Amino acid sequence: MPILLEKPKNVLPISSAYYVGNICIDPPVVLAPMADVTNGSFRRLVKRMGSPGLVVTELISTAAIHYGSKRTFEMFDVTEEQRPLAVQLFGADPAMMAEAAKVAVDQGADIIDINMGCWVPKVCKTGAGAAMMKDEAAACRIVEAIVRAVEVPVTVKTRAGWQYGQFATVGLAKKLEEAGVQAFALHARYATQGHTGEADWELIRQMKESVSKPVVGNGDIKTPQDALRILQETGCDGVMIGRAAIGNPWVIRDIVHYLKTGELLPPPTLDERIETALAHVSDLVEHLGENRGVRHLRGQLPLYFKGYRGSARLRDAITSADTLVSVRDTLARFANYIDHFEHGEDSPFEN
Ligand SMILES: Cc1cc2nc3c(=O)[nH]c(=O)nc-3n(C[C@H](O)[C@H](O)[C@H](O)COP(=O)(O)O)c2cc1C
Repeated sequence: MPILLEKPKNVLPISSAYYVGNICIDPPVVLAPMADVTNGSFRRLVKRMGSPGLVVTELISTAAIHYGSKRTFEMFDVTEEQRPLAVQLFGADPAMMAEAAKVAVDQGADIIDINMGCWVPKVCKTGAGAAMMKDEAAACRIVEAIVRAVEVPVTVKTRAGWQYGQFATVGLAKKLEEAGVQAFALHARYATQGHTGEADWELIRQMKESVSKPVVGNGDIKTPQDALRILQETGCDGVMIGRAAIGNPWVIRDIVHYLKTGELLPPPTLDERIETALAHVSDLVEHLGENRGVRHLRGQLPLYFKGYRGSARLRDAITSADTLVSVRDTLARFANYIDHFEHGEDSPFEN
C-alpha cells in the first residue's frame, strides 16, 4: 500500500502519454541509455518495479555490429517485458548505421535511437556521438539512411550543441525532423560540459517550441518533484532519468506514481534493497555467467545502500566479490550489522 507522504495542490495528475511514430509511450517516463548500466538485466528490473513507458539500451557500436562482435550482440538482450524498447546506436557511416539498424530491428528493437550526445573522445574522434552535431548535413544523411532501412520509428538523443553557449541543436533538430526523426531527447548540457555544471532546462523549452515532434527532457531529474517541474516549466512531452536510477531503480517507480497520483511513495526498506540488488546481479549472472556478471556490478551494487552506516566498508567488500555466494554473504552480514546497530549494539561490519 503506498503511504501518502505529500499531496501537491491543483497540479496533478499531469501524466499523459506521447507517441513515437505509432508507439505509445505511457507513462511519459523514460529510462535513459547508460553505458555499462542499462543492460537487459537493469532494464527488466526497472520495468518490473516501476513500469516506465520506455527503456533504452546502452549505446551500441554499429561498427561492432558490422564485424559481428559476440559481446556487442549480447547487449541487445531483448525480452518481451522490456517493450517498448529503444536500441541506441552510434556510428558515423550512413551505410553501416542503416545495416546495424536492420540488425537491431531483427533483434527486437521497437525504436532505433541515434546517439548524438556522447562526448567521450573515443566516440567523437570517429565523427560519431556529439560530433555529429558539428556536421548537420552528415547527421541528416545518417537519419535518412536509417529511416529508409527500417520501418520502426527513428529518434535522436542529443545535447544542446557542441560548444558551450551555442545552442546549435535547436536549428539542427528542425532539419532532422524533415529527415524523418520521430522524437528527440535533449540532455540540456553542451558536449564540452560533459556532466559538469547544471542542465539548463530553458533550452528544452526552446527546443520544444521549435519542433513539432515530441521532445523528452533530460538532465538532473533526481526526484518526482523535479520530473513534475521540468514538464511544467518546459512543456516537454516526457522525462528521461539517468544517474538518479543507478542503484536506485525506485526513483522511476516514484516518478511514475507521483505523476499519476500526486503521491510520494516511501523509500525502500533495507530488505527490499538487498532483495533488489540480488535480483539485479542474479539476472546479469544468468546472462553473462557468474564471473562477468558479478564483476560487472561491483561498482553499482554498493549504490543500493548509499547513505547507510557502514556503506563504505560494504563497497570495499563487494569490490572484491567474484561469486554470487560471496555477494549474498556480504549483504547478509551487512543486514546483520545494520540490525545490530538499530538495536543499539555497535558490532563492526567485517569485510
Ligand atoms: C554512466 C553513464 C553512461 C551513459 N551512457 C550513455 C549512453 O550510452 N548513451 C547516451 O545517449 N547517453 C549516455 N549517458 C548520458 C545519460 O543518458 C544522460 O543523458 C545524462 O546522464 C544526463 O541525465 P541525468 O542527469 O538524468 O543522469 C550516460 C551517462 C552516464 C552517467
